[in-house]
Amino acid sequence: MLFLASDHAGFPLKESLKKVLTEREITFEDLGTNSEESVDYPDFGHALAEKVLENADNKGVGICGTGLGISMTLNRHAGIRAARCVSIEDAELSRQHNNANVLVLAGRQLDAKLAAEILTKFLATEFEGGRHKKRVEKIDIA
Ligand code: RB5
Repeated sequence: MLFLASDHAGFPLKESLKKVLTEREITFEDLGTNSEESVDYPDFGHALAEKVLENADNKGVGICGTGLGISMTLNRHAGIRAARCVSIEDAELSRQHNNANVLVLAGRQLDAKLAAEILTKFLATEFEGGRHKKRVEKIDIA
């Protein structure tokens, strides 16, 4: 399952990406927030991390204004590899080399069309394994 979460600053981009996913018939679950009323990004980052960690096949998309706060939050969870991507190449490499399981986007900085392309690449790209596997296994410290 694909889970989406954002704070108020990421809400408009989350809504835009939901339309793209719906058009492409990609199933997702929206964990909020549900408006531009001010909320705290850690609440949504932690909720997203917990959902993604329920199943090894799960993926997530986390959005705040810059993508920074929510990625810091997500990456506090062992097993979460949240990648803040600003380009299609970032998205591709985050999957191929880092086996990223959460895509993080900057809602106040990224053009919606580019964000959709980044998400498309993220979802379409597989982890390469091989030499990258042992490196990814060294990320978590506990
Ligand atoms: C909210 O104003 C903003 O601080 C938040 O969305 C995020 O950018 C924090 O990292």
